[in-house]
Amino acid sequence: MDTLARGSESSRGSAYGRSVIGREVRELDTPALLIDAAALDRNLRRMADDCAALGKALRPHAKAHKSPVVGLKQLAAGAVGVTCAKIGEAEVMIAGGIHDVLISTVVGSPAKAVRVAELAQESKVATVIDSETGARWLSEAATAVGTTVDVLIDVNVGQDRTGVQPEDALALASAVVGMRSLRLRGLQGYEGNLQHVYSLDERARRVGLAMDQLARAYSELSSAGFDMTWVTTGGTGTYRLGATRSFVTEVQPGSYIVMDADYLKVAGHPFEVALSVLTTVIGTYAGRAIVDAGSKSVSTDAGQPVLKDRMGIAFATAGDEHGKLTSEGDEVGELRVGQKLQLLPSHCDTTVNLHDVFYVTNSGTVEDVWPISARGRVQ
Ligand SMILES: Cc1ncc(COP(=O)(O)O)c(C=O)c1O
Repeated sequence: MDTLARGSESSRGSAYGRSVIGREVRELDTPALLIDAAALDRNLRRMADDCAALGKALRPHAKAHKSPVVGLKQLAAGAVGVTCAKIGEAEVMIAGGIHDVLISTVVGSPAKAVRVAELAQESKVATVIDSETGARWLSEAATAVGTTVDVLIDVNVGQDRTGVQPEDALALASAVVGMRSLRLRGLQGYEGNLQHVYSLDERARRVGLAMDQLARAYSELSSAGFDMTWVTTGGTGTYRLGATRSFVTEVQPGSYIVMDADYLKVAGHPFEVALSVLTTVIGTYAGRAIVDAGSKSVSTDAGQPVLKDRMGIAFATAGDEHGKLTSEGDEVGELRVGQKLQLLPSHCDTTVNLHDVFYVTNSGTVEDVWPISARGRVQ
């Protein structure tokens, strides 16, 4: 073993080892990503019960947690499989024992098509297509390894990210008929631009319009005789709204499992924040305190994190390794060096991607340590 490998192994051993299990949370070195086990379990159960009541399959998006440990819990609670954004995430989920995966991002190169085809040789792997070129790459890769890949046509339902326009879905479906190693199973229509529309009425109105787009593609393709038995949509903010449509068979929410501070502003869901970043006050000064969590520990793409149970104190990133705390009143003046605080991230996906492990907490004690094995798997 070379020096680098030995070094990284020993640092993993001390920083991320399971030796902290049974210790008090406040003894953890920081910054540390925490999951409240009881809150996670409640979120897990609420979503599973809700989807059962709605009569829709649940395929949680693993991009929120990036951990097969969490994915297996979702499966045990009734999920039919997981959704992954990246092929790298799918590879990690499959290696972790999850063998039913939908990759929700279109195939972008022949090399990626080969990776999808190889995964499909051993597990139930489906992906989405929105171009004849991408479909052809996939079919050729699948033919080369002697397998068939299930595909859904990605329909643009208003986000203007990927996806064919609803009126172009039929032409793509007709082209897929001639590709011998693809099996068209249905549609994906993801309304990512609507997840964080805070007002429930406004969100419901706009999700209705998005689902009308998906309905148009669905009815044209099913009238033409295509298999449309798998229609997947929805995130944490919209799955209940999309699920009112009979043609929707499955929902793919992700954030619900751990949630974040921005999702707390979104009306009309029953989920609670289970995720936080434990940080330490490392300096106190006139009118401010500094903590050891900066942009390398907590993401700010959806705004600054908020402090748990200390609404009078505001956090602002003060560099890669530092955060600055200020307050209108004297709350900041009462903080002490060495004091530990919890930050609620504004966006769970991007914060989770910054950490190697979740420290699983229960009533102030570290109960377990779960690796975030798919962090950084952006390819
Ligand atoms: C295609 C797709 N489906 C589902 C989700 C899950 O959304 P959320 O995390 O808001 O529940 C995402 C999140 O980015 C996504 O990109």
